[in-house]
Amino acid sequence: MRINRFLSFSGITSRRKAENLILSGKVEVNGKVITELNCKIDPYKDIVKVNGELVKVSKKRAYLLFYKPRWVLTALGKDPSGLETLDKYFKDFDVRLFPAGRLDFDSEGLILMTNDGEFAHKIHHPSFKIIKRYQVLINPIFDIASKEKVLSGCFLMGKFVKPDDFKVIKNLSDASWIEIAFHEGMKHLVKEYLKKMGYDVKRLIRIAIGDFRLTGVAGSYRWLSQEEISRFKRKYFGEEFGDRNERY
Ligand code: URA
Repeated sequence: MRINRFLSFSGITSRRKAENLILSGKVEVNGKVITELNCKIDPYKDIVKVNGELVKVSKKRAYLLFYKPRWVLTALGKDPSGLETLDKYFKDFDVRLFPAGRLDFDSEGLILMTNDGEFAHKIHHPSFKIIKRYQVLINPIFDIASKEKVLSGCFLMGKFVKPDDFKVIKNLSDASWIEIAFHEGMKHLVKEYLKKMGYDVKRLIRIAIGDFRLTGVAGSYRWLSQEEISRFKRKYFGEEFGDRNERY
């Protein structure tokens, strides 16, 4: 198994971050620091350490849906400037969960937390076309004449993006609630896209990731059942039998 896959599979980090750990010389295999991303290991024989600590393959896969409140950073650990992070909610768990994807500090809504690095990677990879749906308060009020333009897409950071869905939910006196969906996972995508269309985002709530919907109140979470995860994996990743090591 490739070392970065092993590290994400073991639940200590995502695959992308595993690469950074390897490149920065933090990973040892059988007592030797490795910096080659294509290094292969045998998970049952080789001794892998990160920052000097033994990495064990956790067989248990855990997944939950979290309602991230506004003014919480999508990050683990302590923030140097004292902002609230996900640690407030997940620090004392017996499994180490990390967020699959992120929401801005001032955004709220659905975040999937897991220790399954493969799953976290796939959920935000555009090739799997998992649609993320947002309810957004925009200013000024939505001009219905711009609907065609909003639906037809534009270039952002050199890439053509186009919403998978768009509708106006409600007009207020000087703002509108709209719903917009994308399968892309670029940073600040919704804000940047709407800015290009002439609107400022005042509030942003992610209400769905594929078939998983936002429920509960800000700060609450619920574990996903094995059946829910298996169904999701079958539908979006074509994994016939799901993962037998799922925990809940
Ligand atoms: N798009 C954004 O601009 N911000 C988010 O938090 C999520 C999607």
